[in-house]
Amino acid sequence: MARALRALVAASVLFASAEAVSKVSRSGRYLYTQDGSRFYIKGIAYQPQGSVVASASNPFLEPSTFVDPLADSNACSRDIPYLQQLGVNTIRAYSVNSSLNHDACMKALSNAGIYTIIDLSLPLNGSIDRASPSWTTSLLNQYINTIDAFSSYDNVLAYNVGNEVVTAPNETSAAPFIKAAARDVKAYLNSKGSSALVGYAAIDGDESWRDPLASYLSCDPSGSNSGATSIDLYGLNNYEWCGNTTFSQAYSAVETDFSSYNVAAYFSEFGCITAGTRYWTEVGALFSSQMSPDWSGGIAFSYFPATSAQGQFGMVNISSDGSTVTTGQEFNSLKIEYGSVSPPNSPSQSSSSASYGSCPSQSANFIGSTSLPSTPNAAACSCFENDLSCQFTPQTSNYSTILGDLLNYACSQLGQMGSSCNGIAANGTSGQYGAVSQCDPSIMLSYVMSEYYTLQNSNAQACYFAGNGTVNSYAPSGTSGLSAASSSCLASATSVFTPSATGGSSSGGSGGGSSGNSGGAISLEDPRALAGLGVMLAVGLMSGVWTLV
Ligand SMILES: *[C@@H]1O[C@H](CO)[C@@H](O)[C@H](O)[C@H]1NC(C)=O
Ligand SMILES: *[C@@H]1O[C@H](CO)[C@@H](O)[C@H](O)[C@H]1NC(C)=O
Ligand SMILES: *[C@@H]1O[C@H](CO)[C@@H](O)[C@H](O)[C@H]1NC(C)=O
Ligand SMILES: *[C@@H]1O[C@H](CO)[C@@H](O)[C@H](O)[C@H]1NC(C)=O
Ligand SMILES: *[C@@H]1O[C@H](CO)[C@@H](O)[C@H](O)[C@H]1NC(C)=O
Ligand SMILES: *[C@@H]1O[C@H](CO)[C@@H](O)[C@H](O)[C@H]1NC(C)=O
Ligand SMILES: *[C@@H]1O[C@H](CO)[C@@H](O)[C@H](O)[C@H]1NC(C)=O
Ligand SMILES: *[C@@H]1O[C@H](CO)[C@@H](O)[C@H](O)[C@H]1NC(C)=O
Repeated sequence: MARALRALVAASVLFASAEAVSKVSRSGRYLYTQDGSRFYIKGIAYQPQGSVVASASNPFLEPSTFVDPLADSNACSRDIPYLQQLGVNTIRAYSVNSSLNHDACMKALSNAGIYTIIDLSLPLNGSIDRASPSWTTSLLNQYINTIDAFSSYDNVLAYNVGNEVVTAPNETSAAPFIKAAARDVKAYLNSKGSSALVGYAAIDGDESWRDPLASYLSCDPSGSNSGATSIDLYGLNNYEWCGNTTFSQAYSAVETDFSSYNVAAYFSEFGCITAGTRYWTEVGALFSSQMSPDWSGGIAFSYFPATSAQGQFGMVNISSDGSTVTTGQEFNSLKIEYGSVSPPNSPSQSSSSASYGSCPSQSANFIGSTSLPSTPNAAACSCFENDLSCQFTPQTSNYSTILGDLLNYACSQLGQMGSSCNGIAANGTSGQYGAVSQCDPSIMLSYVMSEYYTLQNSNAQACYFAGNGTVNSYAPSGTSGLSAASSSCLASATSVFTPSATGGSSSGGSGGGSSGNSGGAISLEDPRALAGLGVMLAVGLMSGVWTLV
């Protein structure tokens, strides 16, 4: 071979290895690369476990802190050779910090042909709270900041708008908030020309509510075959396959249940730990022609060690100085299994088209309304806040806990005075959303404080709240309360629109068949849960008051 030709070949090999990963898109219920081949997620969860406060009220051992796995370039370069050995093409990261730089990890992963699924929620108050769900400007802002932080990378396959938010039939009232989040994130991605998919990762609950929830997240309430409020990618955290079982024992039911699903689906977690050493024999089934009509692969849980109530997940150990990786039997088994699958390259992309059916009706097992909350409108909320006569002025930046306490207190005071906190209440069952329920929780509190202050004839003492409230001397005089302020600021904020970046700054997998960071475990160690509970208790207390009155 001539020297020049050799150089050319070498250069093209080099170029090929640095080539961008192929864009993956969804057609109907399947994923395809740009050459029209079907794409299957051969993945692994990649998130060191944050600190977990174990308690009876935190059954899923949800972490309250996190380490961003995509911001540490040393850790990524340490781990990527192992990810390559496993033969994975996708990792799932549960919590990332939008203010950190992810260039090194994301580029190295892309060069290794590895896509990422990024969860947009964060521990504590950074996710839709299953106990007191809402879809607010602050959460939308957090999601947008994360999308902006990752939008320049070619290897973001999907963004998840939630993980295991709904864990029981009575929590399906949170579904409209998840669907609204999917709608707004999708519109935002479209506006940026991003083709990343919008996903949700579901707990594998009883099919009586798991299946309606899945249909709901991918349905079209308008009845015009529009995907505007539909997720693109349904994830099921499935731990049905334990030990050396079989397709018919472990998976045939879930195959049947999803046989007519309309968008792409995969196992967003798999890998049972209740039957001893894991041989990952489910991989053969998951990537077989028995499963490929419904499922597009999955994410093995987990690369890093993770503790659950059932024991230890994790396929490697990292030395305490972070320098070395030790693999074990399970790592080798997964490598062998992933290395030996060849799922069918069918059906063809041209035969797969989009369809969005009608939404499931409300029932005892599924109580989510098809009336969705509007797009959180930061400008309207900020205008509203400026007009409020008494404002929450926390003396600490870590105010989630006192916010819950104060909401609880102020709402119960309002209730006793014959007024209500309806303005901040969001009810996903009735589909009624108070005008202020889309605003940042601190604005909700300022609103409630202002209502109380006004009812107390604007006596300055009534805005004190033990040093947490300040009278707003700039508030328009003679106008107070929701009716007046909302007519000028929030009245127009009841619509669906494409969100835009506000420029504001925003701010792991835990196994056991459960979550990275879910909606919200109700835990008294958990400030966000407390904030949610505060509203719940307040609303509960007030309905008591209303019946008395
Ligand atoms: C759902 O029901 C369980 C008990 O079955 C209860 O502990 C939980 O608080 C309820 N959640 C909501 C959102 O009502
Ligand atoms: C399960 O399968 C693995 C791999 O095929 C095998 O090594 C192991 O002995 C099997 N275990 C049992 C209990 O059959
Ligand atoms: C990781 O360390 C734990 C505790 O020492 C041990 O039980 C486990 O087998 C190790 N896992 C691997 C993959 O080496
Ligand atoms: C969570 O609470 C902190 C204050 O403790 C606040 O700065 C942050 O914006 C909140 N995040 C969301 C999404 O509400
Ligand atoms: C925030 O406040 C809560 C309750 O006051 C406390 O338990 C928690 O440690 C604080 N967090 C930080 C980061 O200061
Ligand atoms: C939400 O609305 C439903 C149906 O209208 C009602 O039964 C339920 O009590 C409401 N929830 C709250 C917390 O007000
Ligand atoms: C604010 O409210 C909290 C909760 O009620 C209370 O503990 C605190 O003392 C109040 N004052 C200040 C300055 O934080
Ligand atoms: C993100 O990282 C910045 C810089 O280290 C830190 O100040 C901030 O608290 C982090 N945010 C979250 C939500 O952890």
